[in-house]
Amino acid sequence: MPAYLDYAATTPLDERVLERMLPYLEQDFGNPSSIHAWGQRADWAVEEARERVADGLGCRPEEVIFTSGGSESDNLALRGAAFAARENRGANHLLISPVEHDAVSQTAIDLAARHAFELEWLPVDNLGRVDPDDLRKTIRSDTALLSVIYGNNEIGTVNPIPELAAIARERGVTFHSDALQAPCQLPTLVGDLGVDLLSIGAHKFYGPKGVGVLFVRNGSQLLPIQTGGSQERGLRAGTHNVPLIVGLSVAHEIALARQETDASRFRMLRDLIIDEVLKRVPGARLTGHRVDRLPNNASFVIQGIDGNSLLAALDLAGFACSSGSACKTGDPEPSKVLLALGMETELALGSLRVTVGRQTTEAEVGEFLEALQEAVVGFRSPVADAS
Ligand SMILES: Cc1ncc(COP(=O)(O)O)c(C=O)c1O
Repeated sequence: MPAYLDYAATTPLDERVLERMLPYLEQDFGNPSSIHAWGQRADWAVEEARERVADGLGCRPEEVIFTSGGSESDNLALRGAAFAARENRGANHLLISPVEHDAVSQTAIDLAARHAFELEWLPVDNLGRVDPDDLRKTIRSDTALLSVIYGNNEIGTVNPIPELAAIARERGVTFHSDALQAPCQLPTLVGDLGVDLLSIGAHKFYGPKGVGVLFVRNGSQLLPIQTGGSQERGLRAGTHNVPLIVGLSVAHEIALARQETDASRFRMLRDLIIDEVLKRVPGARLTGHRVDRLPNNASFVIQGIDGNSLLAALDLAGFACSSGSACKTGDPEPSKVLLALGMETELALGSLRVTVGRQTTEAEVGEFLEALQEAVVGFRSPVADAS
């Protein structure tokens, strides 16, 4: 029986979400900026969605900015905060963890290369965690922005966001966290996290693709990166994508309602995968923190195995996994995240990420483990070695 085990890459759309989106793709197609009844109905839908998301994040509706997804939320956070800090207080220093998704790290690199920001990578330990003491040593009065991922999409490690946020707040530095992997499985009340900016994206929590949110704490200094109309408090010009926004808000509400049950089920399946892989696959090593990790993430490196070839073999056997992150499929470069943990290139090329979700069953996990064991034995057999 084939099984999808790549829920960190994306999740299927919940049918209740689709149902709530459909009217806005059909009869209620108005532009929320229009003043007539069609426009008003669409505007209500967007504002209701904003309130729903704000309720879930524990913030005010005006602090919810709708975007086209995680990458745009991250771009708006980094570019918007960096340019605002430069304009308002001459700050030029960016402090970014080296285990970020490309949406953050490539944006930071671009800000340094094209806009002369000074980019400093925060130290992380070999599990991918930022130590608050290291942050205390590196944060500066001219730091424009600090960005640290919440739950790591590749290795699953969860960062101590509230502790890091407290340090940033003391020093008056805007703090952004990429929380794309969090909503189904980690607490995301922004008051408890203490962040100024938080990115989420609907397709990671059984919502539609192409829509996200940037939480922008009231009082945070942010410049728009997309100009035009005055939508989203002038931070994000463009006609609202009403069906996607409605879908995101409903998916978010469902994700929070099921968070505890989902997380504990995911944890049970994840631990089963981790324990069995370490037991059955010689040369397999867990990446990321054993306990402080995303409940749905089991990630490994396997000595002497090429991750992409393993993925292809598993795919042939009917199992969808990932090596590092979806964007790296087919890319022979080792994951930058694994290298940042101090791992040698050869070992980093043998990465395997297995992520479970609402549809995953114990039976699927059992079959997957068999297939993995078989594939690894195949790669290690003398015939495979000779070819
Ligand atoms: C941690 C993280 N940040 C950002 C993104 C990018 O999000 P999107 O695909 O919605 O642009 C992803 C998606 O893979 C992610 O896992």
